[in-house]
Amino acid sequence: MSDPVVIPVPPEWAARAYVDDVKYKAMHASALADPEAFWGVQGQRLDWIKPYTKVKDTSFNEADFHIRWYEDGALNVSANCIDRHLETRGDSVAIIWEGDDPNNSSQITYRELHAEVCRFANVLKKRGVGKGDRVTIYMPMIPEAAYAMLACTRIGAIHSVVFGGFSPESLANRIKDCDSKTVITADEGVRGGKIIPLKANVDAALEHASGVTSVIVVTRTGAGVSMQDGRDVVYEDEAATVSAECAPEPMSAEDPLFILYTSGSTGKPKGVLHTTGGYLVYAAMTHQYIFDYKDGEIFWCTADVGWVTGHTYIVYGPLANGATTLMFEGVPNYPTVSRFWEVIDKHKVNTFYTAPTAIRALMRDGEEPVKRTSRASLRLIGTVGEPINPEAWLWYYRTVGDSRCPVVDTWWQTETGASLIGNLPGATAMKPGSATRPFFGIKPALVDDKGEFLDGAASGNLVLLDSWPGQMRTVYGDHKRFFETYFRTYPGMYFTGDGCRRDEDGYYWITGRVDDVLNVSGHRIGTAEIESALVADTKVAEAAVVGYPHDIKGQGIYCYVTLKAGVTPSDDLKRELIQTVRREIGPTASPDIIQWAPGLPKTRSGKIMRRILRKIAENDVSNLGDTSTLADPSVVDDLVANRAGA
Ligand code: WTA
Repeated sequence: MSDPVVIPVPPEWAARAYVDDVKYKAMHASALADPEAFWGVQGQRLDWIKPYTKVKDTSFNEADFHIRWYEDGALNVSANCIDRHLETRGDSVAIIWEGDDPNNSSQITYRELHAEVCRFANVLKKRGVGKGDRVTIYMPMIPEAAYAMLACTRIGAIHSVVFGGFSPESLANRIKDCDSKTVITADEGVRGGKIIPLKANVDAALEHASGVTSVIVVTRTGAGVSMQDGRDVVYEDEAATVSAECAPEPMSAEDPLFILYTSGSTGKPKGVLHTTGGYLVYAAMTHQYIFDYKDGEIFWCTADVGWVTGHTYIVYGPLANGATTLMFEGVPNYPTVSRFWEVIDKHKVNTFYTAPTAIRALMRDGEEPVKRTSRASLRLIGTVGEPINPEAWLWYYRTVGDSRCPVVDTWWQTETGASLIGNLPGATAMKPGSATRPFFGIKPALVDDKGEFLDGAASGNLVLLDSWPGQMRTVYGDHKRFFETYFRTYPGMYFTGDGCRRDEDGYYWITGRVDDVLNVSGHRIGTAEIESALVADTKVAEAAVVGYPHDIKGQGIYCYVTLKAGVTPSDDLKRELIQTVRREIGPTASPDIIQWAPGLPKTRSGKIMRRILRKIAENDVSNLGDTSTLADPSVVDDLVANRAGA
């Protein structure tokens, strides 16, 4: 049965876009038929210090597992994002910064960006940072975050950006994992009118991460913060002592570019490693085609630079293409729920890219806060991060986009570097809720749990059969974990961890994670991480965490907690446990529901039956499936009877 809502490509889009349906099919077919030739041409969009002669050398098979793109070429990312634009658009705006306070904004031209990044690079050098060193960046959404990232790429250092909402504990783990000796932070961050004590968090983190010898503190609020002699310096003081010229370091295409930690189904977050050439080719190319970016347009991605979306579509993709990228310090509902739309009008934004969770939250306030703004500059709107429900899609299309802006739904992951499945605005008829079709050269497939291919209209596990330039290359420091996590389950294929349906038109509908990873407000969180934070509390004996459908967040966090003998359950204790999780991981991991569980449903071999816990959390208790393999089936009756909110 075909889905009733199909929104055709507006004719003016088929005419204005780089790619219409005929061209999409031709380009996709040629990329699949001869990847070497296709990606060889695409690589030319960058400036190479040493041209590549090899394009693709990849194998997903265990015996000769390797992923290399453009491997004998050399280039510098910051030179591609800045220097090469100076002649033609040195005085064009590279970054528009919109502060948390609506009266606070600024513009940075490409020429200014060049000077700022060179200065930051020279400060890093002065502090002893060199090629291959890891630099942890823990910053608010201010231009200096982008300068710091680009400065690392200029000298060949590997940045690891840690989202400013993460706790000192999480920050410490990420610093230690990649053994970074340098941390870049700000005195404080400002978000939604609230202060975030970033430097104090760094100080707390460094009590557990003693390898850090240098902390560079950018001034955001000017609040007095404690500075440790010899270790900490004020960025502006250092910047005043160095030159605004710094030659870009030639890097091999396969040299590491950045590490970004992301949650998996087991263990600690993994350091996803991306490399220089392939990542930038793919980031720039997807930014051009998916958003149909044309010179002079203003592009706004609302993500934080602490996530991959911010890396690829605030910094690297737009700047590689010479675009004007908007960086927003604030939140969608401060000072009012019209903020996004006011910023669009203020800066004449052409492309707006946000997450379904933000759309659903703003939808609750109705049309009026949107309709009181003009949004006349908008031409395209996009979404990313989680499946978008058709209702939210249609509201976004009609209310925000006035039924005239195509909605692009982009499916991708930290691991994939940039979007892999998504509609092209001039080529793909839209179906609300579907990420639609693969990008050029991407080979998705669906398999059942045994790894058998499912043809035609089907539902299964989403895998990718061949490499693309933006693919991650390894888990930092643990290449074995890279293979085991993504290539072991279905031999010869990259397993995404997502479930997916393909309809009779070949459109892909992502249904969400099939592993123990939650997607809460578009943020990835491993259930294992939350469980280990809960059991860190001395009153807790055991914990099991699952997701459940949540109107705004997409998924909420449902925790079953077994207390130690003699501990009395109470609402105060629930609050204490929520605080523990926030302290250990960060506010994004806050439990929504805690249910006291005298026991957890386990198999006779001691394995927790999460399937049952998920059903109880979803309040789908009429059909719990086979419970006869449980060691003690009566625990299920107790959990059902005492279901939170039941
Ligand atoms: C989910 C964010 C449906 C998916 C770029 C994926 C999506 C995980 C979409 C990666 C989308 C992302 N439709 N689901 N358009 N985009 N996802 O690493 O489950 O933070 O595996 O990367 O988000 O999250 P990550």
